[in-house]
Amino acid sequence: MDKPKVVLGVSGGIAAYKACELLRRFTESGHEVRVVPTASALHFVGAATWSALSGNPVATEVWDDVHEVPHVRIGQHADLVVVAPATADILAKAAHGLADDLLTNTLLTARCPVVFAPAMHTEMWEHPATQENVATLRRRGAVVVEPAVGRLTGVDTGKGRLPDPGEIFEVCRRVLARGAEEPDLEGRHVVVSAGGTREPLDPVRFLGNRSSGKQGYALARTAAARGARVTLVAANTALPDPAGVDVVPVGTAVELREAVLRAAADADAVVMAAAVADFRPAAYAAGKIKKKDDQEPEPIVLVRNPDILAELSAHRARPGQVVVGFAAETDDVLANGRAKLKRKGCDFLVVNEVGESKTFGAEENEAVVLGADGGETPVPHGPKEELAETVWDLVAERLG
Ligand code: CTP
Repeated sequence: MDKPKVVLGVSGGIAAYKACELLRRFTESGHEVRVVPTASALHFVGAATWSALSGNPVATEVWDDVHEVPHVRIGQHADLVVVAPATADILAKAAHGLADDLLTNTLLTARCPVVFAPAMHTEMWEHPATQENVATLRRRGAVVVEPAVGRLTGVDTGKGRLPDPGEIFEVCRRVLARGAEEPDLEGRHVVVSAGGTREPLDPVRFLGNRSSGKQGYALARTAAARGARVTLVAANTALPDPAGVDVVPVGTAVELREAVLRAAADADAVVMAAAVADFRPAAYAAGKIKKKDDQEPEPIVLVRNPDILAELSAHRARPGQVVVGFAAETDDVLANGRAKLKRKGCDFLVVNEVGESKTFGAEENEAVVLGADGGETPVPHGPKEELAETVWDLVAERLG
């Protein structure tokens, strides 16, 4: 099979250096990449770098190798065009169909999916001109990844950072895999909880669990790739923010409940992938608990945490809101799963077996999705993304 052909457009922003990592991800995973920088991008990263990393010639203007008609051919032959970073200027040119260099010509001739990963200062991103250009591009079917929030050039912080290159790569991989398929969660708002809660005993100790958050992050990433607006409520995770996803960090079960209920108010679906502690210490010691040589340790008294999944299921914020739970079981997996689905009152329950070496922190998963209507969808052992896609298939079908 031919290698998928990717055009990596790079426009003139400081984040251009991060596109080197994106390029490396593409080439190392078997993609043929043609880099098309703008003239301003070359102020940040030179043509020699792009050429050496891609193994292909690099041009910015339409006047090189004119006999090969590059201003038409590069776009025509691409399976995917991704512009990262995309400046306010390139978004404006793309939205208005200007074509004054090789990249803008390529964007006009491409008939494949196009992904833009904008990066700029917050003021430029929020300007109505930029927002209208983004809306125009999205309306025409382009994927415009939301910029991340964080440190910008100089001392500024805010929305406008280029998302992690690994996350942009994941968006591209999904867009390539889905081809011209309609994004079936377009216009939907979905909420995903991920990670594991920590219930503090004192300022340095907590009761926690071994959830890494990878399954919840895979759910968030895949929902965003399918066009949804995603709120990811993340409990104690150490993973890069998925591109274009609104991440709300939380610590305890009570904080997670508050954040999930707030986000669920206008959500079409809520997926509770987080491992929520059922109990928390009844008392919190404001100072570190000290051991006393002549005394036995004090027992830890626990109180119940709210059951967020049961609450979401019993009080749907909107009619038709789909609620999905996860159940990690060590034995009698299916029987326990069926009983739990009934008890919690959700629409679907993803049941998987956990143990010392199973699921926690792993890249892969195996599960059965139980439906309240009696449905049973087995998901064979595979990447957590595949399980996530099955969950969204079922949710999208239920939403109609
Ligand atoms: N969950 C929740 N609130 C809690 C505990 C769990 O919302 N206080 C959610 C989890 O996010 C998950 C589902 O409920 O989606 C299953 O959690 P689990 O702890 O396995 O179920 P429990 O009801 O605690 O059952 P058991 O302890 O008997 O396994």
